Amino acid sequence: MQTKIVKAKDGIEEGASLIKSGELVVFPTETVYGLGANAYDESAVAKIFSAKGRPQDNPLIVHISSLEQVRDIAESVPDVFYELANRFMPGPITLILKKSDKIPYIVTAGGETVGIRMPKNVWTRELISKSFPLAAPSANKSKHISPTTAKHVYDDLQGEVALILDDGACEVGIESTVLDLTTDVPTVLRPGAVTTEMLAEILGEVSENGKVIKIAKAPGMKYTHYAPKVKTVCAVSIDHAVEEYDKEKSEGMRPVIVARDIYRDKVEERDQISLGVTVEDYCRNIYSALHTAEENFDVIIVEELEQKGLGASIMNRVEKAAGGKKV
Ligand code: TXA
Ligand code: MG
Repeated sequence: MQTKIVKAKDGIEEGASLIKSGELVVFPTETVYGLGANAYDESAVAKIFSAKGRPQDNPLIVHISSLEQVRDIAESVPDVFYELANRFMPGPITLILKKSDKIPYIVTAGGETVGIRMPKNVWTRELISKSFPLAAPSANKSKHISPTTAKHVYDDLQGEVALILDDGACEVGIESTVLDLTTDVPTVLRPGAVTTEMLAEILGEVSENGKVIKIAKAPGMKYTHYAPKVKTVCAVSIDHAVEEYDKEKSEGMRPVIVARDIYRDKVEERDQISLGVTVEDYCRNIYSALHTAEENFDVIIVEELEQKGLGASIMNRVEKAAGGKKV
């Protein structure tokens, strides 16, 4: 199969007709690119799992373009869903509800719940409104880093998908917050740009990153996600990063330090990839930096952020990329 990259605004008709005929289309969102299929079509959704090499016990998120679609996807919609939707949708959040009969079990990995998300990208919402709600994971090979540009997608999924809709770099840069609304107390299964603090302000009570519990609860969390193809470590301080760099270098490796510009002086002559200046910059740039790093180096040393707010969400991904390795 030939894989074509088209500007999102020029590819909506073609994308919608591919989706209607049961094919896959890659679409842009504010978080990362998604690999979509008609969420109501079991055999279309099956193609996602084979294209990605994804285990079937990891459920997919259903992407919508309007809140009316939720009544077809969820069995019942609690008020709290609308409260959160009014505040955060469209945006980088996925809310989990009990699934309707219309959603095939392949989407939910056999479970009774379904994740629902309305992405911000206007072209993607137009694609959905002209076809169907889209079941979609991130558009990368299973276990690899999530894609934040069309090129990242192409490098991973070339030949596996007919059409990639390109709308430039994703502005948030890490995957959506996943919040389970089917538990007594709403539970954050995956932190994201909508932070637990922001959710707590609206809900009063959120079950927070009681880390072990959260990881055990979310299906799919047992896999190492977001992993670069080369050794990756998280450095607790820039001095540790520099020390690790020099050690790897002396052993004949090609290390790189991935950090914000505030440390530029400390890193001096050594190879580095900039994450920008602010924590938001770090978030937007991290996956791109990891993609560049794995192509050009063989040890990636990443700056650790303070574990609060957006920093905690980003560290959730970086620690997975590093497989828990710290220096
Ligand atoms: O930002 C995002 O969420 C991106 C874009 C494309 O929308 N999508 C994404 O999909 O990151 P994926 O499949 O790579 O990650 C979805 C996560 C997985 O950890 C999965 O286990 C969890 O959401 N998830 C999906 N449905 C679930 C459900 N019904 N119950 C619990 N966890 C669920
Ligand atoms: Mg993913």
